[in-house]
Amino acid sequence: MRAMQYKSYAGALDLVDVPKPTPSANQVLVQVHVASVNPVDWKQASGKLRLVMPVKLPCVPGYDLAGVVVAAGPGAQHFTPGMRVHTRLGGLNGGASAEFALCGTDTLTPMPESMDYETAAGLPLAGMTALQGLRDQCGMPMLGATERVLIVGGSGGVGHLAVQIARSAGAHVTAVCSAGNAQLVSDLGAQQTVDYRAPSPYAGLPPFDIVLDCVGGDPGPWLPLLTPNGRYASTVPGPLVMARMLLNAVTARKVRPVLLKSNAADLAVLDGLAQAGKLRVVVDSRFTLDKLADAWVRSRSGRAVGKILVSVL
Ligand SMILES: NC(=O)c1ccc[n+]([C@@H]2O[C@H](COP(=O)([O-])OP(=O)(O)OC[C@H]3O[C@@H](n4cnc5c(N)ncnc54)[C@H](OP(=O)(O)O)[C@@H]3O)[C@@H](O)[C@H]2O)c1
Repeated sequence: MRAMQYKSYAGALDLVDVPKPTPSANQVLVQVHVASVNPVDWKQASGKLRLVMPVKLPCVPGYDLAGVVVAAGPGAQHFTPGMRVHTRLGGLNGGASAEFALCGTDTLTPMPESMDYETAAGLPLAGMTALQGLRDQCGMPMLGATERVLIVGGSGGVGHLAVQIARSAGAHVTAVCSAGNAQLVSDLGAQQTVDYRAPSPYAGLPPFDIVLDCVGGDPGPWLPLLTPNGRYASTVPGPLVMARMLLNAVTARKVRPVLLKSNAADLAVLDGLAQAGKLRVVVDSRFTLDKLADAWVRSRSGRAVGKILVSVL
């Protein structure tokens, strides 16, 4: 089968021919139709995450995929050939940038009938991160939310889904994005947008109960925007976030990391929102499998609006 692979950290991304894998007891072999790119793919390949997220080399990168079941191990027979499925692959080694991928049953979810492969591939990693950041780290209820929520990076892969999830829960949503993306982010449900490049963009804003930061950096400047018991969570929990977390014991405002825990139940929550017409995946760009390196260049630019997709079939 065809796959994209790198043999060393910071090495070339090559199209290779490798044997089609065979599922073990609790695995399912999926023919990949569409995969999606996430920044973690190229961050891992660069070697910069090797201490916290090492890969086994050579590595076929990519975590998100949507496709069709072709075979299942003896413990995974509830996934039958022909089933349309999607997942954020478990483990640390990806595997989605190939014609076929081995999937664990813990994160594999049947696609809703009405869902297309592009939506199904764009949703898992970014959607679960947004969901877990808002609900688990910031305590936003999924129904009847009254919180004022600020999404920093409201146009990105995680942010554009976070805007919609918070809005569907009932929260009041303000999104931080550039002026060029303000209309799109408003169309996704944000009641207010803030252009981060404007002079003093945050002056005079009423306080927020929740800040979900999908851009990263120092949490410090965001904390004065919170209500006294407000919560700040970052999807890029670097040293400054970790340092601020040390103060959680003595401050009412809490700083939390978002560290995605893939699971089929949360993907099913996202599928439900999508089926109800409350969540859609905005497509930034599409690439073929052999052009994965170009897709990574686009992702690395930090300018993607929504999700970058890779069509494999
Ligand atoms: N911890 C976890 O489990 C986890 C899970 C998922 C993602 N992440 C991390 O979370 C981050 C976001 O992921 P992603 O997939 O959403 O990335 P992404 O799609 O590449 O984000 C790109 C978006 O960020 C916006 N942006 C850039 N700088 C901004 C700023 N200063 N203020 C507001 N918006 C800004 C860009 O809009 P403009 O062009 O308009 O600036 C663009 O739309 C990445 O670092 C990723 O690695 C972590």
